[in-house]
Amino acid sequence: MDDLLLKISYTLTDIDKAAIQFWDKLHNYRIFAFSGDLGAGKTTFIHKLCDHLQVQDAVSSPTFALINEYHFTGPAGVDKMIYHLDWYRLRDTAEAINAGMEDCISQAGKGAAYCFIEWPEKAMELLQKPYLWISIETTGIFEREMTVKKVGG
Ligand SMILES: Nc1ncnc2c1ncn2[C@@H]1O[C@H](COP(=O)(O)OP(=O)(O)OP(=O)(O)O)[C@@H](O)[C@H]1O
Ligand SMILES: [Mg+2]
Repeated sequence: MDDLLLKISYTLTDIDKAAIQFWDKLHNYRIFAFSGDLGAGKTTFIHKLCDHLQVQDAVSSPTFALINEYHFTGPAGVDKMIYHLDWYRLRDTAEAINAGMEDCISQAGKGAAYCFIEWPEKAMELLQKPYLWISIETTGIFEREMTVKKVGG
């Protein structure tokens, strides 16, 4: 059974607050699957999350690169790594493995990195439990509703 961990609505005005609330509650997880239609706001939210974490690298949509790697300084000055993955252009799990996605997930599974995945539906079999299923719905021109469920574990 999937556990509902968080349900929030936000606009671009209070998205920073939403990102803080999200991270306060969910920072112990490593695999974050962001589901939502084109333009739902997956990249925008991940960008805000990375701002909150004071990521040192430029955050952008990995639509073409498929994998972006970012770093931030965690508690006790430890270097933490984020893989920002976009599976939109992948056809299936086999293509995802060829593109190196399995390695990113398995590092996250071992606690050595975080994975923020856009379009996780393209290669569901690669997601290692426990992971978070984050669904973003457009509820108004500027309003989004996010629900976060824990899957497995
Ligand atoms: N509350 C909101 N949260 C996020 N984005 C919003 C919000 N309100 C309006 N927007 C706008 O919606 C668009 C979201 O685009 P974004 O690239 O983040 O979507 P996406 O889900 O990553 O799409 P894709 O599937 O193409 O990767 C942006 O233009 C953003 O400014
Ligand atoms: Mg995107």
